[in-house]
Amino acid sequence: MWLPQTSLGPLVAFCGLITVAKAGMVMNCNQPADDDTTIYNFSLMDINKNKTINLSDYQGKLVMIVNYIGLNALNSKYGGRGFVVLAFPCNIFLKQEPGANGTEILNGVKYVRPGGGFEPNFQLFEKIDVNGNKEHKLYTYLKSYCPPTQTEFKPSILFYTPIKANDVSWNFEKFLVGTDGRVMKRAHPSVDPVSMEMDVENALPVPAASNGAGRVSPISG
Ligand SMILES: *[C@@H]1O[C@H](CO)[C@@H](O)[C@H](O)[C@H]1NC(C)=O
Ligand SMILES: *[C@@H]1O[C@H](CO)[C@@H](O)[C@H](O)[C@H]1NC(C)=O
Ligand SMILES: *[C@@H]1O[C@H](CO)[C@@H](O)[C@H](O)[C@H]1NC(C)=O
Ligand SMILES: *[C@@H]1O[C@H](CO)[C@@H](O)[C@H](O)[C@H]1NC(C)=O
Repeated sequence: MWLPQTSLGPLVAFCGLITVAKAGMVMNCNQPADDDTTIYNFSLMDINKNKTINLSDYQGKLVMIVNYIGLNALNSKYGGRGFVVLAFPCNIFLKQEPGANGTEILNGVKYVRPGGGFEPNFQLFEKIDVNGNKEHKLYTYLKSYCPPTQTEFKPSILFYTPIKANDVSWNFEKFLVGTDGRVMKRAHPSVDPVSMEMDVENALPVPAASNGAGRVSPISG
Protein backbone atom coordinates (compact mmCIF):
# COMPACT_ATOMS: atom_id res chain seq x y z
CA MET A 1 0.00 0.00 0.00
CA TRP A 2 1.28 3.49 -0.81
CA LEU A 3 0.79 5.78 2.11
CA PRO A 4 1.57 9.42 2.71
CA GLN A 5 4.86 10.53 4.08
CA THR A 6 3.65 11.51 7.50
CA SER A 7 7.08 12.21 8.89
CA LEU A 8 7.36 15.84 9.71
CA GLY A 9 10.78 16.35 8.21
CA PRO A 10 11.57 19.92 7.28
CA LEU A 11 8.19 21.29 8.31
CA VAL A 12 9.01 20.68 11.95
CA ALA A 13 12.04 22.84 11.62
CA PHE A 14 9.97 25.63 10.11
CA CYS A 15 6.93 25.34 12.34
CA GLY A 16 7.99 24.07 15.71
CA LEU A 17 4.57 24.66 17.21
CA ILE A 18 2.62 22.35 14.96
CA THR A 19 0.99 19.53 16.83
CA VAL A 20 0.29 16.37 14.93
CA ALA A 21 -2.74 14.19 15.28
CA LYS A 22 -1.47 10.73 15.94
CA ALA A 23 -1.35 8.87 12.66
CA GLY A 24 -3.73 5.98 12.79
CA MET A 25 -6.38 7.91 14.61
CA VAL A 26 -10.09 7.60 14.02
CA MET A 27 -11.74 10.92 14.77
CA ASN A 28 -15.32 11.38 15.89
CA CYS A 29 -17.31 13.84 13.83
CA ASN A 30 -19.60 16.39 15.38
CA GLN A 31 -22.37 17.52 13.06
CA PRO A 32 -24.88 19.61 15.03
CA ALA A 33 -28.29 18.01 15.46
CA ASP A 34 -30.03 20.96 13.82
CA ASP A 35 -28.01 20.69 10.61
CA ASP A 36 -29.91 18.32 8.33
CA THR A 37 -27.30 17.99 5.56
CA THR A 38 -26.51 14.37 4.71
CA ILE A 39 -24.70 12.57 1.91
CA TYR A 40 -28.17 12.10 0.39
CA ASN A 41 -28.02 15.74 -0.67
CA PHE A 42 -25.41 14.84 -3.31
CA SER A 43 -25.32 13.00 -6.58
CA LEU A 44 -22.30 12.19 -8.74
CA MET A 45 -21.46 10.40 -11.95
CA ASP A 46 -20.18 6.84 -11.87
CA ILE A 47 -16.59 6.13 -12.90
CA ASN A 48 -17.45 5.75 -16.60
CA LYS A 49 -19.47 8.96 -16.51
CA ASN A 50 -22.44 7.29 -18.08
CA LYS A 51 -24.88 7.48 -15.21
CA THR A 52 -25.65 9.79 -12.32
CA ILE A 53 -25.83 8.14 -8.91
CA ASN A 54 -27.90 9.90 -6.30
CA LEU A 55 -26.39 9.11 -2.93
CA SER A 56 -29.91 8.88 -1.55
CA ASP A 57 -29.80 5.41 -3.17
CA TYR A 58 -27.79 4.45 -0.07
CA GLN A 59 -30.38 5.48 2.51
CA GLY A 60 -30.35 3.07 5.43
CA LYS A 61 -26.89 1.72 4.57
CA LEU A 62 -23.74 2.20 6.58
CA VAL A 63 -21.41 3.85 4.09
CA MET A 64 -17.63 4.11 4.01
CA ILE A 65 -16.41 6.82 1.66
CA VAL A 66 -12.81 6.67 0.53
CA ASN A 67 -10.87 8.79 -1.92
CA TYR A 68 -9.12 5.82 -3.41
CA ILE A 69 -9.68 2.25 -4.40
CA GLY A 70 -8.91 -0.92 -2.47
CA LEU A 71 -11.36 -1.84 0.27
CA ASN A 72 -12.64 -5.16 -0.98
CA ALA A 73 -12.21 -6.94 2.34
CA LEU A 74 -14.68 -4.92 4.40
CA ASN A 75 -17.16 -4.77 1.58
CA SER A 76 -17.11 -8.55 1.18
CA LYS A 77 -17.40 -9.13 4.89
CA TYR A 78 -20.20 -6.69 5.70
CA GLY A 79 -21.96 -6.20 2.37
CA GLY A 80 -24.69 -8.60 3.45
CA ARG A 81 -25.42 -6.52 6.53
CA GLY A 82 -26.17 -3.18 4.95
CA PHE A 83 -22.62 -1.86 4.51
CA VAL A 84 -21.29 -0.29 1.32
CA VAL A 85 -17.97 1.20 0.27
CA LEU A 86 -18.09 4.15 -2.13
CA ALA A 87 -14.81 5.14 -3.76
CA PHE A 88 -13.97 8.49 -5.31
CA PRO A 89 -10.68 8.45 -7.23
CA CYS A 90 -8.75 11.67 -6.93
CA ASN A 91 -5.61 13.04 -8.57
CA ILE A 92 -4.46 15.82 -6.27
CA PHE A 93 -1.98 13.85 -4.17
CA LEU A 94 1.32 13.49 -6.01
CA LYS A 95 -0.84 12.86 -9.08
CA GLN A 96 -1.24 9.23 -8.09
CA GLU A 97 -4.43 8.85 -10.11
CA PRO A 98 -3.73 10.21 -13.59
CA GLY A 99 -6.20 7.92 -15.38
CA ALA A 100 -8.02 9.89 -18.09
CA ASN A 101 -11.27 7.96 -17.77
CA GLY A 102 -12.85 5.01 -16.03
CA THR A 103 -11.23 2.47 -18.32
CA GLU A 104 -7.76 3.80 -17.58
CA ILE A 105 -8.39 4.09 -13.83
CA LEU A 106 -9.68 0.53 -13.66
CA ASN A 107 -6.73 -0.75 -15.68
CA GLY A 108 -4.43 1.16 -13.33
CA VAL A 109 -5.77 -0.53 -10.22
CA LYS A 110 -5.83 -3.89 -11.94
CA TYR A 111 -2.27 -3.87 -13.27
CA VAL A 112 -0.33 -1.15 -11.42
CA ARG A 113 -1.58 -0.18 -7.95
CA PRO A 114 -2.59 -2.29 -6.08
CA GLY A 115 -2.13 -4.44 -9.21
CA GLY A 116 -2.13 -8.21 -9.22
CA GLY A 117 -5.45 -8.28 -11.06
CA PHE A 118 -7.28 -6.25 -8.40
CA GLU A 119 -10.95 -5.76 -9.26
CA PRO A 120 -12.92 -3.46 -6.94
CA ASN A 121 -16.11 -5.08 -5.63
CA PHE A 122 -17.73 -1.75 -4.74
CA GLN A 123 -19.16 1.31 -6.43
CA LEU A 124 -16.63 3.65 -8.03
CA PHE A 125 -17.43 7.23 -8.89
CA GLU A 126 -16.01 9.75 -11.29
CA LYS A 127 -12.68 11.33 -10.41
CA ILE A 128 -13.21 14.37 -8.19
CA ASP A 129 -11.14 16.82 -6.19
CA VAL A 130 -11.51 16.36 -2.44
CA ASN A 131 -9.63 19.56 -1.49
CA GLY A 132 -8.87 22.94 -3.01
CA ASN A 133 -10.89 25.37 -5.03
CA LYS A 134 -12.41 22.62 -7.20
CA GLU A 135 -13.33 20.33 -4.33
CA HIS A 136 -16.61 18.50 -4.61
CA LYS A 137 -19.33 19.69 -2.22
CA LEU A 138 -19.75 16.17 -0.89
CA TYR A 139 -16.25 16.48 0.55
CA THR A 140 -16.91 20.00 1.77
CA TYR A 141 -19.76 18.51 3.77
CA LEU A 142 -17.79 15.49 5.04
CA LYS A 143 -14.83 17.58 6.17
CA SER A 144 -16.80 20.37 7.75
CA TYR A 145 -17.92 18.33 10.76
CA CYS A 146 -14.87 16.13 11.38
CA PRO A 147 -11.51 17.16 12.79
CA PRO A 148 -8.53 16.72 10.46
CA THR A 149 -6.58 13.49 10.73
CA GLN A 150 -3.28 15.26 10.39
CA THR A 151 -2.24 18.82 10.78
CA GLU A 152 0.82 19.18 8.63
CA PHE A 153 0.96 19.22 4.85
CA LYS A 154 3.78 19.18 2.33
CA PRO A 155 2.72 21.64 -0.36
CA SER A 156 5.32 20.31 -2.81
CA ILE A 157 3.44 17.03 -3.24
CA LEU A 158 -0.07 18.49 -3.24
CA PHE A 159 -1.61 19.42 -6.56
CA TYR A 160 -4.31 21.79 -5.37
CA THR A 161 -4.76 25.19 -3.77
CA PRO A 162 -5.55 26.64 -1.35
CA ILE A 163 -4.31 24.25 1.34
CA LYS A 164 -6.56 24.28 4.40
CA ALA A 165 -6.13 22.86 7.89
CA ASN A 166 -9.09 20.53 7.53
CA ASP A 167 -8.07 19.03 4.20
CA VAL A 168 -8.12 15.37 3.39
CA SER A 169 -4.53 14.39 4.09
CA TRP A 170 -3.94 11.84 1.34
CA ASN A 171 -5.43 9.10 -0.75
CA PHE A 172 -7.18 6.54 1.42
CA GLU A 173 -8.60 8.81 4.07
CA LYS A 174 -11.92 7.29 5.14
CA PHE A 175 -15.26 8.71 6.27
CA LEU A 176 -17.85 6.51 7.92
CA VAL A 177 -21.40 7.70 7.29
CA GLY A 178 -24.30 6.43 9.38
CA THR A 179 -27.51 4.85 8.19
CA ASP A 180 -29.09 8.30 8.47
CA GLY A 181 -26.60 9.73 5.95
CA ARG A 182 -24.76 11.83 8.53
CA VAL A 183 -20.99 11.71 8.80
CA MET A 184 -19.83 9.84 11.93
CA LYS A 185 -16.10 9.11 11.82
CA ARG A 186 -13.03 10.14 9.89
CA ALA A 187 -9.90 8.01 9.72
CA HIS A 188 -6.34 8.79 8.68
CA PRO A 189 -5.11 7.09 5.49
CA SER A 190 -2.79 4.89 7.54
CA VAL A 191 -5.73 3.35 9.41
CA ASP A 192 -6.21 -0.11 8.01
CA PRO A 193 -9.92 -0.37 7.23
CA VAL A 194 -9.91 -3.78 8.86
CA SER A 195 -8.95 -2.11 12.14
CA MET A 196 -12.17 -0.06 11.87
CA GLU A 197 -14.25 -3.19 12.13
CA MET A 198 -15.50 -2.32 15.60
CA ASP A 199 -16.68 1.08 14.39
CA VAL A 200 -18.40 -0.61 11.47
CA GLU A 201 -19.82 -3.44 13.56
CA ASN A 202 -21.32 -1.00 16.09
CA ALA A 203 -23.09 1.02 13.40
CA LEU A 204 -24.27 -1.73 11.04
CA PRO A 205 -28.00 -1.71 10.35
CA VAL A 206 -28.29 -5.50 10.34
CA PRO A 207 -27.12 -7.28 13.47
CA ALA A 208 -24.76 -10.19 13.25
CA ALA A 209 -26.32 -13.61 12.88
CA SER A 210 -24.75 -16.01 15.30
CA ASN A 211 -24.12 -19.57 14.20
CA GLY A 212 -24.28 -20.65 17.80
CA ALA A 213 -20.54 -21.00 18.20
CA GLY A 214 -20.02 -17.33 18.86
CA ARG A 215 -18.73 -16.82 15.36
CA VAL A 216 -20.15 -13.93 13.37
CA SER A 217 -21.18 -14.67 9.84
CA PRO A 218 -22.76 -12.34 7.30
CA ILE A 219 -26.46 -12.66 6.62
CA SER A 220 -27.11 -13.70 3.07
CA GLY A 221 -30.21 -14.05 0.96
C1 LIG B 1 -30.30 18.49 2.24
O1 LIG B 1 -31.54 17.83 2.18
C2 LIG B 1 -32.40 18.18 3.25
C3 LIG B 1 -33.60 17.26 3.22
O2 LIG B 1 -34.12 17.18 1.94
C4 LIG B 1 -32.75 19.66 3.12
O3 LIG B 1 -33.59 20.05 4.17
C5 LIG B 1 -31.47 20.48 3.17
O4 LIG B 1 -31.74 21.83 2.96
C6 LIG B 1 -30.47 19.98 2.14
N1 LIG B 1 -29.21 20.65 2.39
C7 LIG B 1 -28.44 21.10 1.43
C8 LIG B 1 -27.16 21.71 1.86
O5 LIG B 1 -28.74 21.00 0.25
C1 LIG C 1 -20.47 2.91 -19.53
O1 LIG C 1 -19.20 3.27 -20.02
C2 LIG C 1 -18.31 2.19 -20.22
C3 LIG C 1 -16.95 2.75 -20.61
O2 LIG C 1 -17.07 3.86 -21.43
C4 LIG C 1 -18.89 1.24 -21.25
O3 LIG C 1 -18.00 0.15 -21.44
C5 LIG C 1 -20.23 0.75 -20.77
O4 LIG C 1 -20.82 -0.07 -21.75
C6 LIG C 1 -21.15 1.91 -20.46
N1 LIG C 1 -22.35 1.41 -19.86
C7 LIG C 1 -23.54 1.88 -20.15
C8 LIG C 1 -24.69 1.28 -19.41
O5 LIG C 1 -23.71 2.72 -20.99
C1 LIG D 1 -31.86 12.57 -5.09
O1 LIG D 1 -32.95 11.82 -4.66
C2 LIG D 1 -33.76 12.52 -3.71
C3 LIG D 1 -34.77 11.55 -3.16
O2 LIG D 1 -35.20 10.64 -4.13
C4 LIG D 1 -34.37 13.72 -4.39
O3 LIG D 1 -35.18 14.44 -3.49
C5 LIG D 1 -33.26 14.61 -4.89
O4 LIG D 1 -33.78 15.69 -5.61
C6 LIG D 1 -32.27 13.84 -5.75
N1 LIG D 1 -31.14 14.69 -5.97
C7 LIG D 1 -30.59 14.86 -7.15
C8 LIG D 1 -29.44 15.79 -7.17
O5 LIG D 1 -30.97 14.28 -8.14
C1 LIG E 1 -10.01 6.54 -22.24
O1 LIG E 1 -8.85 7.28 -22.47
C2 LIG E 1 -7.95 6.64 -23.38
C3 LIG E 1 -6.68 7.47 -23.44
O2 LIG E 1 -6.98 8.82 -23.62
C4 LIG E 1 -8.61 6.47 -24.73
O3 LIG E 1 -7.74 5.76 -25.61
C5 LIG E 1 -9.88 5.66 -24.56
O4 LIG E 1 -10.58 5.57 -25.78
C6 LIG E 1 -10.78 6.32 -23.51
N1 LIG E 1 -11.91 5.45 -23.28
C7 LIG E 1 -13.14 5.93 -23.18
C8 LIG E 1 -14.20 4.90 -22.89
O5 LIG E 1 -13.40 7.11 -23.29
